[in-house]
Amino acid sequence: MNSFVLKNATLPDGTVADILVTDSKIEAIGTGLTAEESIDCSGLRALPGFVDLHTHLREPGYEQSETVLSGTQSAALGGFTAVHAMANTQPVADNAGVVEQVRALGERAGYAEVFPIGAVTVGLEGKQLSEIGAMANSAAQVKVFSDDGKCVSDALVMRRALEYVKSFGGVIAQHAQEPRLTEGAQMNEGAVSARLGLTGWPAVAEESIIARDVLLAEHVGARLHICHLSTAGSVEIVRSAKARGIQVTAEVTPHHLLLTEDLAETYDAVYKVNPPLRTNADVQALREALIDGTIDIVATDHAPHPIESKDCEWSAAAFGMVGLETAASVAQLVLIESKKSNWSRLAEVLSHAPARIAQDQHQGESIAVGSSANITLIDAKAVRKIVAKTASKSVNNPYADLELPGRVVHTIYKGRFTVRDGKLAGAN
Ligand code: DOR
Ligand code: ZN
Ligand code: ZN
Repeated sequence: MNSFVLKNATLPDGTVADILVTDSKIEAIGTGLTAEESIDCSGLRALPGFVDLHTHLREPGYEQSETVLSGTQSAALGGFTAVHAMANTQPVADNAGVVEQVRALGERAGYAEVFPIGAVTVGLEGKQLSEIGAMANSAAQVKVFSDDGKCVSDALVMRRALEYVKSFGGVIAQHAQEPRLTEGAQMNEGAVSARLGLTGWPAVAEESIIARDVLLAEHVGARLHICHLSTAGSVEIVRSAKARGIQVTAEVTPHHLLLTEDLAETYDAVYKVNPPLRTNADVQALREALIDGTIDIVATDHAPHPIESKDCEWSAAAFGMVGLETAASVAQLVLIESKKSNWSRLAEVLSHAPARIAQDQHQGESIAVGSSANITLIDAKAVRKIVAKTASKSVNNPYADLELPGRVVHTIYKGRFTVRDGKLAGAN
């Protein structure tokens, strides 16, 4: 029997208690609890294991950038106990075989639960619906579908996809990017893009798709999730859609909460990302929306790329940045250090809500007796100077050299340590 007690941990609501873990469950919470092994957690914040709804693990097909093993090791170091793996692999995860393979790779790696996301359309081509039903009924039990990296831009295809997932309570996660408005686009459209001579990516390219899709979701009566909101206008659309009772949820990435378009002036392609970094006004609107609940979750869009795809001229570089090991720190900065929110909200946006949106079993549960033992312990008072190299195979890390608050000390997945004292432990 596996049994240990986390002594004097601070729960999200601020109470200090011992947490007794037996096998894969939380057996008791209280004071004076004992077990074979006792781990001093004084001063550490215990949070439900984080759940990332938007991770690019790159396997199969792009193993030089990331593998399920390296990506989930990075996830564990970031405090995650579950990740949802995007479908833009090679082959694309548009059929039961690939999603079952990705799920099995996650189980074999043992560092975090891997929930494969299924492609909405065959080959991410936006034309023909993929085998949505077969993926939902497969051993991987896929409930989230996305063509991320590409937008489902055809309104009829989007309508049909929403109708299809409605039949089993699934959700479509849309990468909102009107393709005709972003041809050749390199960065946010505005004064900076004009000065740098880079083709601009207007906010309306994102907002027009979100506006269309909330109306389609309303019409169909299906669930829609919007990936990586990046503009103040997108926030307004989601806010009004929610007020109308439309079933829409939204995510924001750590990078859109922290970084702005001015970084493009360095011409360092580490800052090239899709959707692009926007203005400070957008960042402030996204932060407020995360605090007030208009935005439901923080999701990383961890997008590893090999050095040759990033260490090159801006316009030739790939879009994307890593983010699993810094996400919680950025959330802490925005919600806690700002004094505008609290740890319960951080637990909500990084764990409860993403698990609920994806309908994950045994993830995102409260720290309570009988819950699965997926627990992250954070030293909130620590300040870290970020180094580019993480457990990811890729080093396209925009946070390098920044100082960020908080450090993940332990990650417990299914009752076992995947990270202990800040270091990777053996896999489950
Ligand atoms: O920056 C991005 N990178 N945005 C996406 O939508 C896709 C992702 C990737 O796969 O590299
Ligand atoms: Zn995307
Ligand atoms: Zn993505």
